[in-house]
Amino acid sequence: MSAVLHGAPVLEPMRPEDIDAVLAIEQSAYPFPWTRANFADALAAGYLAFCCRSDGTLIGHAVMLLVLDEAHLLNLTLAPEWQGRGCGRQVMDRLLDEARGRGARRLFLEVRPSNAAAQALYGRLGFAQIGRRRGYYPADGGREDALVMALDL
Ligand SMILES: CC(C)(COP(=O)(O)OP(=O)(O)OC[C@H]1O[C@@H](n2cnc3c(N)ncnc32)[C@H](O)[C@@H]1OP(=O)(O)O)[C@@H](O)C(=O)NCCC(=O)NCCS
Repeated sequence: MSAVLHGAPVLEPMRPEDIDAVLAIEQSAYPFPWTRANFADALAAGYLAFCCRSDGTLIGHAVMLLVLDEAHLLNLTLAPEWQGRGCGRQVMDRLLDEARGRGARRLFLEVRPSNAAAQALYGRLGFAQIGRRRGYYPADGGREDALVMALDL
């Protein structure tokens, strides 16, 4: 069954009891997913962690770290059945609002050079590449670089 987006995605704070469902989406979306401990640690450390819901349905999640006036997007994930239909843009718009509302003036993120959809999304939002971290990500048969991108808020 194909997913139908009834309502615009909303962000809700991620709670410990959400982690099972979040982890299921995470594992379906990446070959090298975050672990349960990664999410639990993020919540315990007070990172900004969100569940993205459309009419109550969990469609994805995001984790952001805010330090003074700099925000760092650490995780942005949509369930595969919700990808490629414009939800990413809507979720990012809400994340940018959250960051701005908390006083962030710049948002940083890393993205794989092989991740065309994510790069298209970030480019359209105005993110610019400001650097490259060599061998940052695990990859099949080795490591993959990360492109470091930033947006002035
Ligand atoms: C990356 C992600 C958040 C993007 O969200 P999305 O809702 O799927 O993306 P959208 O439908 O809003 O499309 C964003 C843009 O990417 C383009 N795009 C989508 N799939 C693409 C592909 N395979 N190759 C190139 N461009 C693609 C779309 O055309 C759109 O561009 P446009 O605005 O110029 O039309 C989502 O696909 C996802 O969660 N992927 C898996 C996890 C991931 O990679 N997270 C990001 C880690 S940095």
